[in-house]
Amino acid sequence: MPDLRELLHFYAEAGADTPLEDAPVDRLAAVEPARKPVQPPAATRQAVPQAERPRPEPQPVAAPALNKTSVPDDTKIALARQLASSATTLEQLREQLASFDGCNLKFTAKNLVFADGNPHAPIMFVGEAPGREEDLEGVPFIGRSGQLLDRMLSAIGLDRTGVYIANTIPWRPPGNRTPTPLETEICRPFFERQIELAAPKLLVALGGPAAKALTHAPEGILRLRGNWKTHRTAAGIDIPVMPTLHPAYLLRNSAQKRFAWRDFIAAKIQLRALTQ
Ligand code: URA
Repeated sequence: MPDLRELLHFYAEAGADTPLEDAPVDRLAAVEPARKPVQPPAATRQAVPQAERPRPEPQPVAAPALNKTSVPDDTKIALARQLASSATTLEQLREQLASFDGCNLKFTAKNLVFADGNPHAPIMFVGEAPGREEDLEGVPFIGRSGQLLDRMLSAIGLDRTGVYIANTIPWRPPGNRTPTPLETEICRPFFERQIELAAPKLLVALGGPAAKALTHAPEGILRLRGNWKTHRTAAGIDIPVMPTLHPAYLLRNSAQKRFAWRDFIAAKIQLRALTQ
C-alpha cells in the first residue's frame, strides 16, 4: 500500500485536487460488467452446478450527465455567440454565462468566476483562467498572484475600485491545466462581450494566453510585452492593449518584475492621457 499522504500528493500534482462529488464513485466498477468474461477453451469447459454459477452481471452504471458531448463544438460556439450577444448588461451576461452548459470546464469548477473591481473603470485587466482560490470564492485574482497584482496596482496608484478585472476563461481548468484552444473559443464570445459592455479605454493583458486571446498576436509574451497592441470589438471599436507578464510568472521569476513594472507605468501614462 502506498503511503496515503504520498498518494494524495500524487493526485494533487496530477491535477486531481478537487472532489467533484461528496461520495466516491468507483468508475472501474462501471466498466467491469461490460467486459466479456474470458471463456476457457471448449475442451476444458465443465458444467457448473446451479449454485456455483456466476450471478447475473450488474448493468453498467450510467455515467453522470457531466457534459453534452453529443453537441458538436460548432453548435456550442454558435450558442455562446447567440447568448453573449443577446446580453445588454454585464449582469445579464453573467446570467447567460451561468446558464451556459457548452463548456466542459463548468462541470469541474466550483464557481463561475466572472469579474471583480469596478465595471465602470476606464482600465480593464484580463487574466487567463481562475486558480484554486478564485474557484472557491468566485472572484478573480485573489490567490497569491492576485495579491501581487494588488501590490502592482497600488504601485501605480490604483486599487480594485479603479480597475475592472476578468479572465478569458471564467471557470477553473482542473488542476490549473492550460485551457484548450476549443475551451478558449467556446468562451471567447463571452469575454469579448464582457469587454464590449464594460467598454474600458484600455486593456492590460496579463500573460501570454490573455494577450493572444485579445490581440491574436502570434508572438510569445516575452516578445509581446511592453508593446501596445489593439483589441477590436465586434462593433469595430479599437481598444489599446498593453500585454505584460502574468503575476504568477513574476512570482516564479522575480527578476522579471522590472519589466512588468515598466508596462504598468506605460499603461498608467496612457490611462492618464485617455481620461484627461
Ligand atoms: N490567474 C489568472 O489568470 N486569473 C485568475 O483569476 C487567477 C490567477
